[in-house]
Formats: sequence, C-alpha cells, structure tokens
Amino acid sequence: MSKTESRGPLYHVLRAQQFDRALLDRLCDLTTRIRKVAKVKEGADYLQSLLSNKRAILYFTQPSTRTFLSFQNACHILGIRTSEIRDPSTSSEYKGESPEDAIRTFSSYVDVIIMRSPIAGFADRTAAMLDETDRPVPVINAGSGKDQHPTQALLDIYTLYRSFKDRGGIDGKTIAMVGDLARGRTVRSLSYLMKNYRGVRLIFVAPPSRRMGDDIKGFLDKMGIPWKETEDLAGILPEVDAVYMTRLQDEYDEAGESKKIDYDKFAFRPEHLEILPETAIVMHPLPRRNELHPGVDKDPRAKYWRQERNGMWMRVAILAAIFGIEKDILDPYGRSSHV
Ligand code: NCD
Repeated sequence: MSKTESRGPLYHVLRAQQFDRALLDRLCDLTTRIRKVAKVKEGADYLQSLLSNKRAILYFTQPSTRTFLSFQNACHILGIRTSEIRDPSTSSEYKGESPEDAIRTFSSYVDVIIMRSPIAGFADRTAAMLDETDRPVPVINAGSGKDQHPTQALLDIYTLYRSFKDRGGIDGKTIAMVGDLARGRTVRSLSYLMKNYRGVRLIFVAPPSRRMGDDIKGFLDKMGIPWKETEDLAGILPEVDAVYMTRLQDEYDEAGESKKIDYDKFAFRPEHLEILPETAIVMHPLPRRNELHPGVDKDPRAKYWRQERNGMWMRVAILAAIFGIEKDILDPYGRSSHV
C-alpha cells in the first residue's frame, strides 16, 4: 500500500469543501469530549501522553495571534512539540531558498506542517509537492490569503453547533455574514461548509465594492442554499439566528481603496441588540476594530470570546483526527478513567 492510500479520513486540511457532515459531527463531538477530559489533571496528563512522540512546525508568514497561539497550545495539549518560523527573513528563504524547498526541509524534521501564507492555494501546492516525496507529512492550512481559512470555519461550526444544541442544531438556521466579504477568508470557508446543513439561509451584508465573491455564490446556487444580499444591517437582524461580523481586510488594499468605504454601516453596536432575537448569537473571528462595539461583549448572545477559545479545542480535535487517536480519547477506557 502506498503512503497516500493508508491515510485515515483526515490528513491534509486545505479547504472547507473537503469536509462532509459525518466528519463535521465527529469533530464537534470529539471537541466536546476533549474539553471535558482536559478539565481534570489526570485527563490533561493523559491527553499530553497521546502524541508526545510527534513534532509540528508552525510556519506563519502572515500576522496571527489567535490562530498561531491556539494551534501552538492545541499541540501542547496533545504533547506535540512545536517549532516555529514567523518571518521568512530569519530563515534560509532570505538566502534565496524557494518556499517549496524550505517546506521540504521542515518535513525532514516534523510530523505536521501548520501554515499561514498570504498566497491563495499555496498550502494546496505544498501538500501536493510533499505527497510526491518519500516523507510526506500532513499540511494544515491556517489561512491562505484572501481565499480560505478552513480551521477557523471548523471552530465557527463548533460554536454554532454548541449554541444551537437545544434548538435543533445548525439545520434550518439563518446566518448573516457582515463586512468585507470579498476578502474575508473566514466567511468564504464558512459558506462552503454550509453545504452540509439542511435548510440553512445566508444573508450577505456588505459594501457594494466588498460583496461576497461570485465563486461562493455560484457554489451556494449549485448546492441549493438560498442567499440574499443587502446593505441594511438593522433591516435583517430581526430574522437571523446568527450574525457573523468581520473586519475590513485593508491589508490587501492596492491603493488605499478601503478609505472610500463607509464601514460604520457595517458595525454592530449595543442598540442592535434590541432588534436581535433573544435566541440569536453574535460571532466574530477577531481581531475586531470598530465594526463590533465592546459594549456588546457582556450580552449573553455575544459568543466571540467563547468562539476564540473553541478554536483551541477544535484544533486539538483536528490534530487528534489527523494522527488517528480519536478512539484513544473517545473509547470506554478513556471515558471511565479520565472523567
Ligand atoms: C481572521 C483571519 O486571519 O483571517 N483572524 C483569525 O484567524 N481569527 C480574521 C481577520 O484577520 O480579520
């Protein structure tokens, strides 16, 4: 059997489209289980023993706080040792080495590559390149330019799943995505994941120059997922189950074009809580600027700080699935001895 044939259900994590409902449900259940096991010291010690023979590199050539730290801590929760490169000017790329060769070098030393890059599709190319070598390792896309952020979408799904646990789950819910949807990779990946849920409706609230891309709209049409587009945030809030705020992605500006956008219209403020249904939730991948007022934080419907923490637990589940240790966490032995 070749190395690629012997892979389990999760190996590379490159794009949201690769996930089906069964895998999403499994990852959500596993995340909940991990959170519980990690609560007591014996459980935390047990988790740390599971992958203590593995090493990871975090190769992040775009700024990151949450994704970097949550992946690093997720590795540590499972005992995976980590090394990192966050600035190519400190690596041999500075001497003219190609990023492809740099990555091949990482694969000589570690068992998984977790990478963030400004280049769309680079993680996919990396994975394909490594698959041709005699030491392929899994690649996790931790953000690829304006294109995708699949692990963020998974933690967003987990946040929705938890929030709607007693209300029939994610199926049938209306989710509004607000802000710079043209360049926001989190909302793009999350839109792709919606193919796995029945009866979901999406509402895109964006400035005219920053509307959701036609590729995503075409995908939703093909999947039969209804969507609509508006600039009127207050107008749609009474009909949503979740509102997902995003920041202006002006780091991608070519000529300061974001300055012309009136982003105040795409901000969620305390007065919006009055028209948001009691059972609805507010999400944000963070970091935030003015588009999400801190006065909203104390409202029980504000889920973004929990969403951030969910990120670490979901990333533990992703690593556990990649390394095939789900059973060690879920099985009756683990259950009786670590809760
Ligand atoms: C997001 C990102 O990097 O795309 N942040 C994150 O990973 N939590 C969102 C953003 O930067 O606006």
